[in-house]
Amino acid sequence: MAPLTPSPTVGTVRRKPNQTPWRLRSALSLDDFERRARRHLPLSMFGYVSGGVETNSSLRGNGEAFQTITFRPRILRDVSARSQKTNLFGKTYEVPFGVAPMGFSAMVAYDGDIALAKGAAGSGTFAICSAASLTPLERVAREAGSRWFQAYVPGDESRIVALLERVAAAGFDHLVVTADVPITGNRENNARNGFDAPFRVTPQLIWQGATHPRWTIGTLGRELFNRGMPHFENMESVQGPPLFSRDLVRSTIARDKLNWEHLKIIRERWRGKLILKGVLDPEDAKLAQKFGCDGIIVSNHGGRQLDGALPSIVALPAIRDAVPDMIVMLDSGIRRGTDVLKAIMLGADFVFVGRPFLFAAATDGEAGVRHAMSILREEIDRDMALLGVVAPHELR
Ligand code: FNR
Repeated sequence: MAPLTPSPTVGTVRRKPNQTPWRLRSALSLDDFERRARRHLPLSMFGYVSGGVETNSSLRGNGEAFQTITFRPRILRDVSARSQKTNLFGKTYEVPFGVAPMGFSAMVAYDGDIALAKGAAGSGTFAICSAASLTPLERVAREAGSRWFQAYVPGDESRIVALLERVAAAGFDHLVVTADVPITGNRENNARNGFDAPFRVTPQLIWQGATHPRWTIGTLGRELFNRGMPHFENMESVQGPPLFSRDLVRSTIARDKLNWEHLKIIRERWRGKLILKGVLDPEDAKLAQKFGCDGIIVSNHGGRQLDGALPSIVALPAIRDAVPDMIVMLDSGIRRGTDVLKAIMLGADFVFVGRPFLFAAATDGEAGVRHAMSILREEIDRDMALLGVVAPHELR
């Protein structure tokens, strides 16, 4: 596995100041997008994206774990020919990061799935289209060129096969099976903030909408006007129930039956690349390899599933050792260029970032996503120079 091809022509990647829209000039780091989104979004939406589960210890642990890892930089090396180009499954991307799959994005950001996918494509990388998305996967493939789809697979063979046929017919050739959601984690903050399934229009939500008119008109209103009542579009082979339906809760059942035998069925039926997301244990990484997965995503779901779960960056080294010849990717808690490089240093081939890119799409659409990506890209470039390397994977 040689994931990187350094290009001597790339060098520094600093943006010219006039390339940044004026609205975005105050956003200097990925965390700034969260601060901006906190003002823009109603609490129910902001809490849905930013929150974790129960005590939020998994969520906090992700950030804290990155802080405990330090670098020993090398000096006096010619680092003028820096490049972040990264080869993944035979395709070269401009940067070693992409957008993690995030459901419900179109209620957080106007046409959120398309904004994320186009923003990523315009930055030389890609976004994974979510099973819990409100945008039909066919539209995301057609309009934004997406080729990575994340499935919440039902624990039922006939439904699995029908879903795979739909995904393949739309042109996706990378299937990410999320395996850490047998049932949804205990997101108390959602219930407290009035964000609960099935959705009900309560006085709390009406007040939140009235006090956040830019979101109410620019996102919710535009979405309803242009696309009608949102549905979960990609959970199964057919469109799911609308957001306000009582069937919403029922439609997610049977996922707790999912097991390795289902993965075997998926492998037999899916011709493209198969990636398992939500791996934290080296034994599961070995099983993923045994059952024919092409890659895994080490992830604790951004601290949104089990409270007290191991941070993925802590889990990574043992997993890398367990499957040395497999593509290992990682998400959960990446906010800085140094975090990306720490993950690569400890064995990741590629990483994904979730919340900051969705916050950027919420306030500024595709331009926001591009700006957030350029910030992360610049940080990685600067950090590589300060570390004495010309390519991220030299840190191995
Ligand atoms: C997610 N995540 C997620 N994962 C998945 O496999 N399918 C999904 O539909 C979703 N939906 C989703 C919605 C929102 C709002 C968030 C924030 C996250 C988890 C996501 O893919 C990823 O694992 C984490 O977001 C990574 O952590 P950071 O970068 O957000 O800290």
